[in-house]
Amino acid sequence: IRVFISRDSTALSLGANLVADNLQKVVADKGLDIELVRNGSRGLFWLEPLIEVETASGRVAYGPVQTSDIPSLIDNGMLQGKDHPLYLGDIEALPYFKDQHRLTFARVGKTNPVSLDDYVAHDGYIGLNNALSLTPEDIVKQVTDSGLRGRGGAAFPTGIKWNTVLNAPGEQKYIVCNADEGDSGTFSDRMIMEGDPFVLIEGMTIAGLAVGATRGYIYLRIEYPHAYVALNEAIQSAYERGYLGDDILGSGKAFHLEVRRGAGAYICGEETSLLESLEGKRGLVRFKPPLPAIIGLFGKPTVVNNVISLASVPIILDKGGDYYRDYGMGRSRGTLPIQLAGNIKYGGLFEVAFGITLREILYDYGGGSASGRPIRAVQVGGPLGAYMPESQFDTPLDYESFSAIEAVLGHGGIVVHDDSVDMAEMARYAMEFCVEESCGKCTPCRIGSVRGVEVIDRIVKGIQKDKNTTLLRDLCDTMIAGSLCAMGGMTPYPVLSALNYFPEDFGINVDADA
Ligand code: NAI
Ligand code: SF4
Repeated sequence: IRVFISRDSTALSLGANLVADNLQKVVADKGLDIELVRNGSRGLFWLEPLIEVETASGRVAYGPVQTSDIPSLIDNGMLQGKDHPLYLGDIEALPYFKDQHRLTFARVGKTNPVSLDDYVAHDGYIGLNNALSLTPEDIVKQVTDSGLRGRGGAAFPTGIKWNTVLNAPGEQKYIVCNADEGDSGTFSDRMIMEGDPFVLIEGMTIAGLAVGATRGYIYLRIEYPHAYVALNEAIQSAYERGYLGDDILGSGKAFHLEVRRGAGAYICGEETSLLESLEGKRGLVRFKPPLPAIIGLFGKPTVVNNVISLASVPIILDKGGDYYRDYGMGRSRGTLPIQLAGNIKYGGLFEVAFGITLREILYDYGGGSASGRPIRAVQVGGPLGAYMPESQFDTPLDYESFSAIEAVLGHGGIVVHDDSVDMAEMARYAMEFCVEESCGKCTPCRIGSVRGVEVIDRIVKGIQKDKNTTLLRDLCDTMIAGSLCAMGGMTPYPVLSALNYFPEDFGINVDADA
């Protein structure tokens, strides 16, 4: 009997290892025989640790399971898929799961993440096989046709980026995967690396074939130790089985891949400081131009793509650009893995086509706030994303619709706050975060963020409120216009949105001027 318990970090933090150990002990004591598979997480975090059992009528789930539940689960016939208070039935039939469009996350939670055989048995490596029979131009065309845009947040068309690298002169080119997922409330990169590392490896290999790069690096944040283990195990199998190396599947084409770990700096998620760090230097932002696509890692043409962008490539090469393009709205094609966190009842990850509204995400999927109080503000797109008030909850998930209201979709992370939130404190935190994480290269960010904290403090204390509010707006304008990268350039988004939509939290409208 095959039993699945997740090895995903979220599941582990909720006790999945304890549950797995305990289950094996109880089963052994009773002389029963199971095959325990440590899979990725299905993304329904409130049900973790989740146990799934393969039965004659399909996989059935139980959760959330504590070690103390295990004897009763076994005694009540869990291994035969029988009923129990924790019985959930087929996880894929639950509303949270069944309406998703799981293209990139198709295998996560289903397979053994580090088994190449399982990967291939679930449609893995079809994309690479197809790519091996195409010219580099045709691979790039498929990706361009798919409409895929950078999922790290900037939404730059992936096919156009690849085309620039393909056409850049250079003997040596590189594929660099940005796995420095530093945004608050984001975990889709981690979940795919822990739950289906081969899809990233395959995507990077296809990228290498597309642009003529023979070497790739995954720049992984140090805070992801479980992803590090899963990736390295998968990379080793891929080498052993000829999916990586000097002669990929006998094609005569080469692609080598290794994982390098960052040291915990948020700014190393910015592509040029990431490249500096990868070269062994301090993570300082470089001037652009030149673009990394022309002069990137070690001065060579380099594709820098986020994990999800690269992990979306195999299905595009498997089913074709048009298949992927059929999902979505406007210029936002395909799907986005949405990560729902903060004060929300049903937090987790679900992958859906662009076009779903924030309200549907928060209430249909999220079930409202965890506290039961009204949702007052959500921050979309990480610590540099704008705070969105209730009046904007009908905005569809679409890059253009978000930028029209000066918000960003970023990496698809959503952090929810109820009506007990103090938005002036949130604005102050945005500036503080910038103080902490600024690389220090340019003045508007390095100095501006320090002054920003001070000005917000003065506003909140009621000291020359009008004058300081004007000063804060001027400072934000300067940071937006004068910063070298998104760190200083976007910190004003959460600050200004808090100020514009929640002025009462700054004591504005209250006559407290000193
Ligand atoms: P950007 O707009 O400067 O560049 C986007 C990408 O397109 C870069 O890789 C750039 O090199 C490339 N590019 C631009 N023109 C090109 C051309 N003609 N040919 C080839 N490549 C070209 O944006 P940037 O500074 O890379 O990223 C900012 C975004 O990062 C923000 O919008 C924010 O949402 C996101 N972000 C994501 C975080 C995360 O943890 N995932 C953290 C912080 C910010
Ligand atoms: Fe460095 Fe901030 Fe300037 Fe970016 S905006 S280059 S993080 S100082």
